Amino acid sequence: MQECVVKNIGLRGVTVADTKISFIDGEKGILIYRGYRIEDLADSSTFMETAYLLLNGRLPDAWELDDFSGQIVQARQAPEYLYAGLKNLPSKADPMDVLQASVPMLAADDPELSDESREANVRKAVRLIARMPVVTAAWHRIRNGLEPLPSDDHLPHAANFLWQLTGTKPDAATAKDLDVCLILHADHTFNASTFAAREVCSTRAHMYAAVAAGVGALSGGLHGGANMRVMEMLLDLENVPDVEGWITNRIEKGERIMGMGHAVYKTMDPRASYLKKMATRLGESKGLQKWDRLSKLVEMTALAQFEKRGKTEIKPNVDFYSAPVYHMMGIPRDLFTPIFAISRVAGWCSHIIEEKFGEAQEKPMLYRPTAEYVGNYCGLIGCEYEPMESRSAV
Ligand SMILES: CC(C)(COP(=O)(O)OP(=O)(O)OC[C@H]1O[C@@H](n2cnc3c(N)ncnc32)[C@H](O)[C@@H]1OP(=O)(O)O)[C@@H](O)C(=O)NCCC(=O)NCCS
Repeated sequence: MQECVVKNIGLRGVTVADTKISFIDGEKGILIYRGYRIEDLADSSTFMETAYLLLNGRLPDAWELDDFSGQIVQARQAPEYLYAGLKNLPSKADPMDVLQASVPMLAADDPELSDESREANVRKAVRLIARMPVVTAAWHRIRNGLEPLPSDDHLPHAANFLWQLTGTKPDAATAKDLDVCLILHADHTFNASTFAAREVCSTRAHMYAAVAAGVGALSGGLHGGANMRVMEMLLDLENVPDVEGWITNRIEKGERIMGMGHAVYKTMDPRASYLKKMATRLGESKGLQKWDRLSKLVEMTALAQFEKRGKTEIKPNVDFYSAPVYHMMGIPRDLFTPIFAISRVAGWCSHIIEEKFGEAQEKPMLYRPTAEYVGNYCGLIGCEYEPMESRSAV
């Protein structure tokens, strides 16, 4: 046994690789993708442009963006066997589980699966970015007894997703707002799902295996799954007369308020600030101010309680205000996290390419941390194996 073991539970603050893709200043509440501030990208860019930026390290010119967007449109059609597989699933299957299971199924349709060149991996990324929304929309329709819809090649990414989901062409404002949400969620340094994806591809597994791991990690309630739980909380609170008392009681009992707190931000998550304004605007334009008001009341109460307990760094994160935003867009609650994945796949693929090709300065050959063994130990030679007949029942 080692005499002195340096442990860092949860790898907080441990630098495991270099990256050129994104950066967070947790003290100042700044997030940048490839050097560009998230607010500027949300104000002026599109998800297609941002995905190109993440994958290629620079903004595209007009021709490059047109070409990239065209490649995404061309790659939208998912293979027939995938739809057949979805139709065989029980309708209660969780959309994140379905999405995670679908990613390796899509691998079987990739003509370049075994080509590990950088160029082929970028094309795999294009196929994944194109098809994850298609799969999510198809599953939603299939579970409701409806046929999946073909994509509309004239519609851009977010608008086409809404069309394939609902069967109605979305209004320009809603499509634009969803596109902005996709920009805001597209990357976030070495978060749990990105690290999972990078860890898997460090074994030289292919991009689909790594993205499937990312989807699985994102589904958890402490990561992307928080947005859905925020909405559940807001719906629970809709008819509660004493919201402040409900929140206070929850914090007193040591329960977590979903959508609050972050492992890196010590101040308000800049994505949450952006989405907070969007929630206010959507509430006003759609006559649904109650969700905006309720979210703000929860935020105010929780922050006051956290402050009382000296936990001033716990502030809303991206999942807090994305929940009322998606709800006001009419998106079903259990699709909030799949929408996160539809966006984050651009970041995962960029990280997978960076990992595979060593595009930042330092990266491990293979992630392989250690753990301190605290289990049964019977000296250097180990425990003596007892035959079954001589073991006494406990
Ligand atoms: C995201 C999260 C896991 C980051 O946590 P962290 O920085 O690793 O901090 P810890 O989990 O160690 O928590 C530190 C303390 O703050 C408290 N805390 C953290 N987030 C909290 C929350 N959302 N509500 C109530 N208390 C919270 C913990 O209970 C803990 O208190 P203690 O020291 O008295 O035991 C955490 O804030 C959380 O669970 N948030 C809710 C889930 C969520 O929104 N996830 C999406 C993240 S983008």
